[in-house]
Amino acid sequence: MNKPYKTDYNRTEIIRMLSSEGADMNAIFARAAETKHDVVGDKLYLRGLIEYSNICRKNCLYCGIRRDNGAVGRYRLSEKEVISSVKYALDNRLGSIVLQAGEDTSPGHIDSIELLLRKITAMSEGKLGITLSLGEQSEETYLRWFEAGAHRYLLRIEASSPELYSKIHPCDALHDYNERLNALKTLRKIGYQVGTGVMIGLPGQTVEDLADDILFMRDTDVDMCGMGPYIEAAGTPLAGRTDTGSPLYTTDKRLEMSLKMVAVLRIVMPDINIASTTALSSLSPDGRYLAVKYGANVIMPNITPSYRMDNYRLYDNKSSEVDPRLKAMDIAYGERGDSLHFGTAEKN
Ligand code: 5AD
Ligand code: SF4
Repeated sequence: MNKPYKTDYNRTEIIRMLSSEGADMNAIFARAAETKHDVVGDKLYLRGLIEYSNICRKNCLYCGIRRDNGAVGRYRLSEKEVISSVKYALDNRLGSIVLQAGEDTSPGHIDSIELLLRKITAMSEGKLGITLSLGEQSEETYLRWFEAGAHRYLLRIEASSPELYSKIHPCDALHDYNERLNALKTLRKIGYQVGTGVMIGLPGQTVEDLADDILFMRDTDVDMCGMGPYIEAAGTPLAGRTDTGSPLYTTDKRLEMSLKMVAVLRIVMPDINIASTTALSSLSPDGRYLAVKYGANVIMPNITPSYRMDNYRLYDNKSSEVDPRLKAMDIAYGERGDSLHFGTAEKN
């Protein structure tokens, strides 16, 4: 970093930044853009997103592909389909891929992922960045996948407040907040670049909760973050819950707060990778573009075979188009774009 950046903001200061409006808010956006420019640069890194399977053992109250949603046609991509998506990523010099699926801990799934990772690593001669987003797994599984070639893992904490977490998940052993924390620790211990994230605008969520989410990411010393607005998904228990008293109830406020979260995170953690997520463009056509302007440096174009995409609906109005304004930016074609933060501190 060429300038000394203040990063040790306290909770009150973070709440103040997240509560800012008008000119104060624009000043935060400008500071985040400057921090990004100075520290990680203005290049936009690409991760081709492959939605491998929508089979999930969990029942998160907000998610469109939760186990109990019988209206979803379940699928798993064939090896051929995955390999053709990877080939697309290589041909188009996307630099990295993300293999994402619902949480499936069956031995068959674990074996298939391992096999795919070995094939992908061989195909790309180890040059393609490989991120996994496959939920909570055992240490042994995380290790097997790491040894097979994956080196980044995304596991969102969803809501860092244990109380809010318990309101948006069923209260059972499968949805245990502490297990999720343990999984993040295990991933770090194995040597993955670790990413987490939260949803913004959840029913009952406060600005204080969001400030604590930022502090959580700093305290866990994550290398990457993917976060976006919560969007009601038809047929889920949480979508039925209206919370008109919440300050984050309207979609405009949710989008604005999501942009502020990206900007404040960039200010507080200048050298991490921050994704501008798909959910941002579900609220406004400008969402993903603005997040990149205000601090995000990664986008994840969806490269799942298109006839499958309709089944991977985590929330409503999910879009897979990339904004032409993003395509016109300085795109880091063919670069893995690893988090600069990774390896900068002694990890424990
Ligand atoms: N709104 C926004 N994001 C959602 N996700 C799941 N359901 C929703 C929703 N209704 C996010 C979760 C999960 C990621 C894969 O998708 O944060 O970690
Ligand atoms: Fe499964 Fe992830 Fe959806 Fe939860 S958020 S139900 S773990 S796909």
